[in-house]
Amino acid sequence: MNTSGKLSHLRPTRLREFLYGSPYYPEHWDEKIRAADPALFRAAGWNVVRMAEFAWDILEPREGVFDFALFDETIARMGAAGIRTILCTPTATPPRWLTRDHPEVLRVDADGIRQEHGSRQHASHFSPLYRDYSRKITCAMAAHYRDNPNVIGWQTDNEFHCHFREDYSAAAGLAWVEWLRARFAGDIGALNRAWGTAFWAQTYERFEDVVLPRDHRPTWQNPAQALDYQRFLSDGVTAFQRDQVDILRAVNAGWFVTHNGCFGGIDYRGDFTRDLDFLGYDAYPFFCFDPAERAANQAAVLDQVRAYSGNFIILEQQSGAGGQGNYFHDNPEPGELRCMAWRSIARGADGFLLFRERTCRFGAEEYWVGVVDHDNVPRRRYREAARLGAELARVGRELLGGTVIFDVGVAGGDFVVQHGHDSLSHGLPSPKHMGEAVHGVFYRAGYAVGVVHPEDVLDRLKIYVIPHFALFDPAWVPNLERFVSGGGTLVVGARTACKDWQNNVVGETLPGVLRALAGATVEEYGRQNRPDRRPLALRFKDAPADTPTTLWYEQLLPDAGTEVLATWATRHLAGSAAITCRTHEKGRVIYVGTYLTREFTESLLPVLEQLGALPKKISAIDGVEVVVRSRAEGGALQVLINHNETTVRVPAPVGATRELLADRALAPGGQLELEPNGVALIRC
Ligand code: GAL
Repeated sequence: MNTSGKLSHLRPTRLREFLYGSPYYPEHWDEKIRAADPALFRAAGWNVVRMAEFAWDILEPREGVFDFALFDETIARMGAAGIRTILCTPTATPPRWLTRDHPEVLRVDADGIRQEHGSRQHASHFSPLYRDYSRKITCAMAAHYRDNPNVIGWQTDNEFHCHFREDYSAAAGLAWVEWLRARFAGDIGALNRAWGTAFWAQTYERFEDVVLPRDHRPTWQNPAQALDYQRFLSDGVTAFQRDQVDILRAVNAGWFVTHNGCFGGIDYRGDFTRDLDFLGYDAYPFFCFDPAERAANQAAVLDQVRAYSGNFIILEQQSGAGGQGNYFHDNPEPGELRCMAWRSIARGADGFLLFRERTCRFGAEEYWVGVVDHDNVPRRRYREAARLGAELARVGRELLGGTVIFDVGVAGGDFVVQHGHDSLSHGLPSPKHMGEAVHGVFYRAGYAVGVVHPEDVLDRLKIYVIPHFALFDPAWVPNLERFVSGGGTLVVGARTACKDWQNNVVGETLPGVLRALAGATVEEYGRQNRPDRRPLALRFKDAPADTPTTLWYEQLLPDAGTEVLATWATRHLAGSAAITCRTHEKGRVIYVGTYLTREFTESLLPVLEQLGALPKKISAIDGVEVVVRSRAEGGALQVLINHNETTVRVPAPVGATRELLADRALAPGGQLELEPNGVALIRC
């Protein structure tokens, strides 16, 4: 197991070489293409490929009969061209002999339907038999490749929980009972108390009587039980992965081990990630179908990934349009592939792979566009990837060892907070969703913004926003107190700290454990379902007009010494406090009695400015994203990306004289020209 200690957004990957390449599928191509591929991809700057995540049928065509020939040959050919390999355990797609002879390893969905052979992720992580097979194939592959110098690391499985995470198989049912027994130390009374089973006559006498929770059978579930089910799923996949990680580390301690996330039902700030050297992330920005929102969305998601455990590698990023089932993405326009890649790198990627080497001619993803087209003619995506490859060959190493620097932090990355919300959402947007909205406002306004978990290091931040963390761990409070007394501005959104870690409502007056920090209490709250019919608005001190709210209101009672920044202006709330500000030593806590929607957060910026709480903007020009990464050798690197449809001139950081990607001198006055989708890298 990796012992790199506490997970933090400030943790670099410790890779010594910037990895660049793609997933590669030798099983999809004939000998002629395979033989020519190493030269083709080396010419585009590849130094790594990832292989075998769906190739169990080739590696073990019959039980206990292994055939590594195709991968041996491909790894050797790639290696001879200077391209090394990340291998994958192939457990996302068991071979047919396994599912035929042992259908009991298959997952079962909430309708009780057993998943079938023919797509992927159909085996249960809770099946002891499947875990046996998983260990066997991992052992066989690890032993075979133990001394192969071209194999540098491993990816476990592929995108755990990407299609679905629920499991209602018999094996999952048995594991659930044992998981509960361990969680409640064998005391069924503790389970009854923790879950509030007095409600709707759920009281249990024995752990064996507790069934796996299913939504709407026939109606609402117990939220505490539903949250524990998510914890159980996360622990299950963590144990499944740990089997593989332990084998790989025991065979060759020099290999790194990673996994390509990030999906629901996995606690990426927990043992799942502690077991890895670093997290991998698969970036598919075109799932945001609105081109105007895509950059902000990609930035927010990358920052959330970094909040789990620090820098990561991109194991897949789309290079062309993705087409599956009933959708087909827009085709990235010239420059967009490179621009998305640099956004990922700017925001914490220490290695980068483009999905996939070439579009496959068959199967469910025959229209998932790769770097090279079906006809094996390299066109503009290949040329763009080659440009990126040349850039990374020059500057990649310089990026390693640094972390992303920012001033505004948005709270995120907590598994319990997110899944607690999902189990009883009341139709309100989730903390993750609201975090993205808040992140987007600061991002668009040109601030250096990122995502930080509340227990992580906060002291470099000027502002820290906790959107709507209904579930709240009291252990986080001292860290927040330190941040505030040290001079930070903490902004707390409505409903924060109204629930405990088990997903039950707290008995204290709200905002519960944050009451002393906020210096105010919540007197009344309510949902806004039809703000058009019963509009609510609040008025900021000295503001000429009212600001409407949506989704939620809270009427606040400020303690003596707490300032009121805004009062409600409408209906029965008129005149009561809506937003408060409490000073603590050098800092302050702003409690906002409504939801931090995009529009509302935009209206909060001038108020923060008046208070002197805002940092300096990092970007001087609208539509130009600027991200700063520290350099291991000191100083920093600035990445600039132009999202405008026109060429812009951007002031370069004071004293900077060269742009590194094109290796060009900066114009006099430190100005830099950036074409649409243009990217620049500056040492400063
Ligand atoms: C990822 C997955 C790949 C491929 C790709 C395009 O989620 O890891 O195997 O399916 O999406 O759909």
